[in-house]
Amino acid sequence: MSVKLHIPGVCDLTTQNKTPFPLNQWYVAALSTELADQPLARTLLNHAVVLFRDASGKVSALEDRCCHRALPLSSGTLDGGGIRCGYHGMLYDGSGQCIEVPGQDVIPRRAKVKSFFVEEKDGLVWIWFGQDEQTEPVSSAPDYPVHSSGDYIWGGGVYHYRAPYQLIHDNLLDLSHLGYVHLRTIGGDPGTHMNADMKTTADGDCVRVVRHMRDSTPPPTYVAAYPFKEKIDRWQEIEFLPSHLKIWTGGVNAGTEDLDNPDRGGFHMRGFHGVTPETETSAHYIWTIATNPQTDPEGTLKKVVDQTALTFEEDKVVIENQYQNMLKFGDQPMVSIHVDAGANQARRIIEKLRTQAE
Ligand code: FES
Ligand SMILES: [Fe+2]
Repeated sequence: MSVKLHIPGVCDLTTQNKTPFPLNQWYVAALSTELADQPLARTLLNHAVVLFRDASGKVSALEDRCCHRALPLSSGTLDGGGIRCGYHGMLYDGSGQCIEVPGQDVIPRRAKVKSFFVEEKDGLVWIWFGQDEQTEPVSSAPDYPVHSSGDYIWGGGVYHYRAPYQLIHDNLLDLSHLGYVHLRTIGGDPGTHMNADMKTTADGDCVRVVRHMRDSTPPPTYVAAYPFKEKIDRWQEIEFLPSHLKIWTGGVNAGTEDLDNPDRGGFHMRGFHGVTPETETSAHYIWTIATNPQTDPEGTLKKVVDQTALTFEEDKVVIENQYQNMLKFGDQPMVSIHVDAGANQARRIIEKLRTQAE
């Protein structure tokens, strides 16, 4: 089966009467660690948003535009539990209501800015984008217990992509590229990756891709983090949802454990990948990596996070390069091969969700 890749800037998307992104979804706005004592400006799904914590630590998200003379609120300061505009000092609370106009007793009735629904959970800040601005969330934000269970330690980062968000989905759903792009870190023999046992299933808006690679040489990151003896059996379990992916990879000494057993031992890397569109042609990639060190937790975590960052920088180079070439060559057919099954399934889901939002 093939799928038509709708690539912003390459294909004409204007006739389809669809939203650019799936709506009625929770998207990742930030890592919790990004919000301390400064406002954070971030454009999310074409909305310029300012995120900040109030005095109690609760996260708020407002439209990043002062209602007085339109300065970005993100260039102001956090003050008294709210955010104070950096031009004439109007103070807003977390709901977007202006609560102080310096030198004026009466606050104009329309002195407020739009607010967004946000939830902070498990070290992630989620923001809801509904069908329209008034649409309330239909569920609470997703849980990600890997961050809060005591079984793993984790770190992460945020990358900005000059490429459409779906190219990041494609990349994460097709890990056969590890053998070509990530030889220095989590790669390994390209033949092993391209010939992995692979199973792709879809359930509702979720796609799962499971890959097993037995009796393979452990890649550099694995050797650096875990005392493997020789060959290993590797697993890669990818779970795609419209706003984020979870990828659980790891390895055990070859022939020692059942790879289908979720309680398997060995070395684990559990990746969280928030893929949040900035615009049609750019995206935020908000990622974390969790691992289960056997010894030296801090040292091992540092190695795993540093190597993951390097890995994702390699992906960013490839994906931005790919998009530039798509722009250069225009709307031409693309051939699918066996490794694309999961990515093509995810594209069908995004297409359907964009249609539902009509
Ligand atoms: S522009 Fe914000 S207070 Fe004037
Ligand atoms: Fe990659």
